[in-house]
Amino acid sequence: MNPKTFLDENKERRLNELFDFLRFPSVSAKSDHDQDGEACARWLSDHLNRMGVKTDIRPTSGHPVVYGELISSPDKITVLYYGHYDVQPPEPLELWKSTPFEPIVDGGYIIARGSTDDKGQLFTHIKALEAYLATGTELPVNIKLLIEGDEESGHEYLAQFVKENKDMLDADIIVCSDSAQYGIDQPAVTFGLRGIAFVEVKITGPDRDLHSGSFGGSIANPINVLAKIVAGLHDDDGHITIPGFYDDAIPVSDWEREQFAELPFTEKDYLKKTGSKALYGEKGYTTLERIWSRPTLDINGINGGYQGEGGKTIIPSWASCKITMRLVADQDPGDICDKIEKHIKQVCPDYVDCEIIKHGGAAAAAVPTDGPWLEAAARAIKTGFDGVAPVFMKEGGSIPIVGVFREVLKLDTLLLGWGQSDDNAHSPNERFAVKDFERGCYSGLALIDELSKVKA
Ligand code: BES
Ligand code: MN
Ligand code: MN
Repeated sequence: MNPKTFLDENKERRLNELFDFLRFPSVSAKSDHDQDGEACARWLSDHLNRMGVKTDIRPTSGHPVVYGELISSPDKITVLYYGHYDVQPPEPLELWKSTPFEPIVDGGYIIARGSTDDKGQLFTHIKALEAYLATGTELPVNIKLLIEGDEESGHEYLAQFVKENKDMLDADIIVCSDSAQYGIDQPAVTFGLRGIAFVEVKITGPDRDLHSGSFGGSIANPINVLAKIVAGLHDDDGHITIPGFYDDAIPVSDWEREQFAELPFTEKDYLKKTGSKALYGEKGYTTLERIWSRPTLDINGINGGYQGEGGKTIIPSWASCKITMRLVADQDPGDICDKIEKHIKQVCPDYVDCEIIKHGGAAAAAVPTDGPWLEAAARAIKTGFDGVAPVFMKEGGSIPIVGVFREVLKLDTLLLGWGQSDDNAHSPNERFAVKDFERGCYSGLALIDELSKVKA
């Protein structure tokens, strides 16, 4: 039997196995799920072993890495697959129509946390490999697999692991399916991701909540102060006001503007996808430029005071918020954290205390926009997607390790997404179309063959 026939004949089993993978609540952000993460890594490792891939579960400072290898000849090129088995927290649970870790198929979609981000997309490559192994077909490439459990937690444990295992991870090209198609039935190759920087701000006023009648007007309210600070981080044109924020940001190139402008885009569809009533953003840029090639700053959550039932008339003791900034090349996350810290400290009035916690982040990742690897990937996708050629696009999200791969291993990553941007990644009712899962498997299969023909 050839590998393609094997894929044809194992649709149901493949889906059931993906369901087993999805049942692990491998939420990396929460330590009470550490055991689930480990169980998930073990399942993955056993699954690969049974397929014939030798694997190891390697400890990191965070969740373990699943590392696998199938090296058959020094004359073949080596492909390193990267993906993540951890998922985002499923909350708020009440907005799910099903149970996040009990996958179902509904209306052609696999619905579960991790279905598209990233278990389902990662699994396509595992199943493409299996099609070779199960049919006894000689693999035309050497394979390495690096599957981590801390992509979503914002921790940089994998970067350390990569630095410590440079030789082990040596390869010719890296493949990662953790992005998306451009749209329905329009696959894509992604040539850039934004970076990210994290900070937390805490404003402290009185040493306990005070009666807002007895003291209101005489003592600063930390929530009022924080609200004014965060409101001042953008001007009326949507530009970020932190001094020096844009200094190192590479401007949107003419070439990029032209590429983006060629992609089909309608405001109406975009608004529908986002469930929003109007577009908003930095003046002077199109929507695609704003999300792919311009840095941003967002408050992810704000805390303090009383939000319970009824009223409570207080001046709260403190207020805090979490901020992330999406970065473009060549902004440095550490430098950006320093700049926002300096700015907030400067604008914060001295009648309150201000504490800033800097968490660092990851730089933007650029991959080549042409060359033999990309051409091979494009041909494979065309095969897997019934003759539809991929478009070239960027993504606004971040995959922190991709920049590290370039810096430490000196390797490029092919970013080949099978899902859709409105598959509800990080949201309730995360989904992955069965059709996209299938086309991902067939593309992954064709990719092995196409990459083997590239002269490294
Ligand atoms: N798969 C996403 C990254 C992504 C999102 C790529 C959208 C392309 C389009 C990844 O799992 C993710 O969510 N990354 C985080 C990283 C953060 C926690 C450091 C992100 O972008 O928020
Ligand atoms: Mn992901
Ligand atoms: Mn994610």
